[in-house]
Amino acid sequence: MTIREMQDEIIRLKKEKDICILVHAYESHDIWEVADYVGDSYGLSKQAAAAPQQNVLMCGVRFMAETCKILSPEKRVYLSHPEAGCPMAEQMDKEMIAYYKELHPDVTVVAYINTTADLKTVCDVCVTSASALKIVKNMEQEHLLFIPDINLGSWIKNQCPEKQIELLQGGCPTHVLLSVKDVKRMKQKHPEALLLVHPESRPEVVELADYVGSTTGIMNFAKESSAKEFIIGTENSIVQHLQMECPEKRFYELSKDCVCRNMKLTTLADVYNMVKYGEAEEILMEEETRLAAKKCIDKMLELGG
Ligand code: 13P
Ligand code: SF4
Repeated sequence: MTIREMQDEIIRLKKEKDICILVHAYESHDIWEVADYVGDSYGLSKQAAAAPQQNVLMCGVRFMAETCKILSPEKRVYLSHPEAGCPMAEQMDKEMIAYYKELHPDVTVVAYINTTADLKTVCDVCVTSASALKIVKNMEQEHLLFIPDINLGSWIKNQCPEKQIELLQGGCPTHVLLSVKDVKRMKQKHPEALLLVHPESRPEVVELADYVGSTTGIMNFAKESSAKEFIIGTENSIVQHLQMECPEKRFYELSKDCVCRNMKLTTLADVYNMVKYGEAEEILMEEETRLAAKKCIDKMLELGG
């Protein structure tokens, strides 16, 4: 079976079986081509609730499928690969944050969406990289604990001097690989190129960027910019997608190491096996957990617009 034949069969079967395929932008282009929607975490979480289909296949990582289930309990939600987790989402647990709240009763916990459903049950507001700044600025509370990403948290903290923001040591093992040395090397090679960086990167890298934003933010900036060359400081599949979508421009990887192994676990064959044979893990969640976790996601949608 060729890739094209497999894609045609997926498209036919997903309609027949009422399956919505949601795809995070870090997945490969052959998966993008069978998607109902491709986007960043914020777009995916909004789309999860809006999709009319009864079944959803999330091609991304576990917390994204969990978010989808939290927002759409009546739907059957499947994760594209059972081992596709986000290491950052596993770094902190509910007990640790509940204890922090006990010690600091006046603190409001802002959780990056890259957290487990279980951890979300003790958090107050959820954010994504696309919505974090707007949401934190819109919050009336002043004393915040931002978890788990210390880099995204620092980026927010720098732009919100009016808030008292506490941070804990957590973060993305992929974006943390991007360094100032990479920036210097790539800028020397491509002096005209603009540097676009995801805020999960180290603060010293973020500081050198011409634009900082979410996955979708970076893609939109590159497409709309009149510049012709870009160095991309996020997961490397974004370089490939942008190059395909804007063949007249040039895109360079900030580092060849910026590859999320977890996002890359999902293949087109996994998507095919799910729509053809139903072979994928269904996300199941206790109703008590779902309702408790939903509170902070609802707050995100309310404050993020
Ligand atoms: P986005 O919200 O930009 O999609 O980021 C999610 C993520 O996991 C990036 O590493
Ligand atoms: Fe998690 Fe980083 Fe992969 Fe995003 S890139 S899913 S934050 S490990």
